[in-house]
Amino acid sequence: MPTDTEKRHDQMKAIRDELLAFKESPLYDYRTKNNYFPVVGEGSHTAKIVFIGEAPGENEAKTARPFCGASGRILDELLNSIEVDREDVYITNIVKDRPPANRDPTSEEIELYAPFLDRQLAIIKPTVIATLGRFSMAYIINRLGLGDQLTSISAMHGKSFTANPEWGSVHIIPLYHPAVALYKASMKTSLLEDFKVIKAVIES
Ligand code: URA
Repeated sequence: MPTDTEKRHDQMKAIRDELLAFKESPLYDYRTKNNYFPVVGEGSHTAKIVFIGEAPGENEAKTARPFCGASGRILDELLNSIEVDREDVYITNIVKDRPPANRDPTSEEIELYAPFLDRQLAIIKPTVIATLGRFSMAYIINRLGLGDQLTSISAMHGKSFTANPEWGSVHIIPLYHPAVALYKASMKTSLLEDFKVIKAVIES
């Protein structure tokens, strides 16, 4: 009988294998031509907190690791600020392949890749989902049945919304995308404040 850890590992590996062979994606040819990888996600399969970004950038597609470039350094700083280790959370994106020239993901791409994210969430069963940026915020808020509360990221960031998916009660905490702190210092302050909300929720 496989242990719970082995089962989660195997389910996550099946997702990785499917993504590697995901020829239906409009991003598949771009990936293979550039020797990029799909970025499945990284971290603990039993994490309490899952962070969901948008889509991999170039560093991520080259290394198969989420948030390993400039935005990742900001994310690491934000995690440090609340004394949470990167290995203890799970970090992923809605879209698992890099869109050309770091453009925004299209709604077709989000729709195509979202079922992989849904499966990852059902494997991990987090109690906190922190969305990074407006695309993952809109997807998760709608997907977990709170569409009537969806407004702008400037209104929703740093607040906690409760949803009840199949695996139990979840706090959804929308956050700005860490990349915003690269262009605007005041956004870093806002992100640091919003991370305190994650800390308060996990300690409550
Ligand atoms: N931006 C994202 O949204 N995800 C990454 O993995 C890296 C940058």
